[in-house]
Amino acid sequence: MSTTSTTVRYLNHINGEWVTAAREEYKDNINPATGEILGHVIQSAPEDVDRAVQAAKAAHKSWRLVPAPERGEYLYRIGQLLKERKEQLARTLTQEMGKVLVEARGEVQEAIDMAFFMAGEGRRLAGQTVPAELPDKHAMSVRAPVGVVGIITPWNFPIAIATWKMFPAIVSGNTVVWKPASDTPAMACEMMKIIEEAGLPKGVVNLVYGSGGTVGNALVEHPDVNVISFTGSSEVGRTIAAKGGQLLKKVSLEMGGKNAIIIMDDADLQLALDGVLWSAFGTTGQRCTACSRLIVHRSVQQEVERELVRRAQALTLGNGLDEHVDVGPVINRSALEQIDKYVQIGQEEGATLLSGGQIAKGELLSKGYFYHPTIFTNVSPTMRIAQEEIFGPVLSIIPVDSFEEAIEVNNAVAYGLSSAIYTNNVNRVFRAMRDLDTGLVYINAGTIGAEIHLPFGGTKHTGNGHRDSGLAALDVFTEWKSIYVDYSGKLQRAQIDNHPKDK
Ligand code: UN1
Repeated sequence: MSTTSTTVRYLNHINGEWVTAAREEYKDNINPATGEILGHVIQSAPEDVDRAVQAAKAAHKSWRLVPAPERGEYLYRIGQLLKERKEQLARTLTQEMGKVLVEARGEVQEAIDMAFFMAGEGRRLAGQTVPAELPDKHAMSVRAPVGVVGIITPWNFPIAIATWKMFPAIVSGNTVVWKPASDTPAMACEMMKIIEEAGLPKGVVNLVYGSGGTVGNALVEHPDVNVISFTGSSEVGRTIAAKGGQLLKKVSLEMGGKNAIIIMDDADLQLALDGVLWSAFGTTGQRCTACSRLIVHRSVQQEVERELVRRAQALTLGNGLDEHVDVGPVINRSALEQIDKYVQIGQEEGATLLSGGQIAKGELLSKGYFYHPTIFTNVSPTMRIAQEEIFGPVLSIIPVDSFEEAIEVNNAVAYGLSSAIYTNNVNRVFRAMRDLDTGLVYINAGTIGAEIHLPFGGTKHTGNGHRDSGLAALDVFTEWKSIYVDYSGKLQRAQIDNHPKDK
């Protein structure tokens, strides 16, 4: 592993300034493709979180009074800066997270889209105006900001997911304390620089680096943080929900997935294979929406397997900065070991390994964290590899005999994020749209590729009833305020004075 020394240091950004933490402790930021150290990230303490929360709380006093269209203007500026720096940001993203450049550009685009979408929301933020039941009375509801919002974001979409949470929070008048993932500090730093350059008033967004156990926890437990929005593992999400419940906080969680693609006997197989390959091995399987189960009709199973193995083995592994590379590394050593452990579990459970199943070796590859795209077949729906989220390039093929069985297998997992079906039968399409129990459903497309203007999230253990992205995100960051204005000049009793003759 290369240990090139570097002086890049990622610092906290609190109340408009780059600052160190209570203790001067740093953690390395490592390029997962090369092992190279890219910089050192400050490890904050609960005191640092408190400073950031106090800054956010103070900033909220004036930010909530800035007209929403003007708050939206800042997002237009942020969107413009993201656009101008798209290529540079994509390269930084590939270097610290590993996803291939074409995907990194896509992720930055997702952040740009979110900026412009939410900027426009500054001129809408629609509530309701309804007739009142009494004369000379006005009734309406408005969205009010909640206050200080804590956002905790993952490394797999370090900039896009941050914007899904931060932008709706800001446009609706909240202020933010952001704890990004420990593995992707450079992207958080770049985003913060853009926020600063766009001229956002100090304290509206504050960045605090550090571990989930210390910084994340301090944010969740802080009495002045009113909302927590988290994307990450179900294990951590469960703890946040429990703590948030005790403190009566609003907690929005987006967690794991065990997403499946169903291929029916009437499907366009080439189209389906394109979708499976992209959904299972794109981002090296490290998407919440990645396809990790392939539910295939037995009559096309052999053909699908043969072609899938051929195409998976033709994928080029390597550094995502090389435009010829199809599959980048996984995020770190512990992820690599975890994936390998699941492959062993699959073999012990009796699944048949068709392809991959190994840590990739070779002069260049062994400097980083590479795993061969892996395919198991004859997986039964109850095996651990068919139930648990692996978050790596591992696909389990589950053969079925009918459409009904396919739907049943799809739904028989704890998670409910994304599902997809390939079929050319219109009746099956509509039944699948109704019966697939996931927050995202794709017809004749893979399980990844959600667009930012619709709600993003899942059912069952994937979430806790909230959604990121789309207009639904506004529900997380606002409280409904219902307002009645009585201009009759006299006491009017609702439900009573308008029913004088009722006995
Ligand atoms: C994630 O993996 O957490 O739909 C987000 C998609 C992307 C977002 C993925 N637009 O796959």
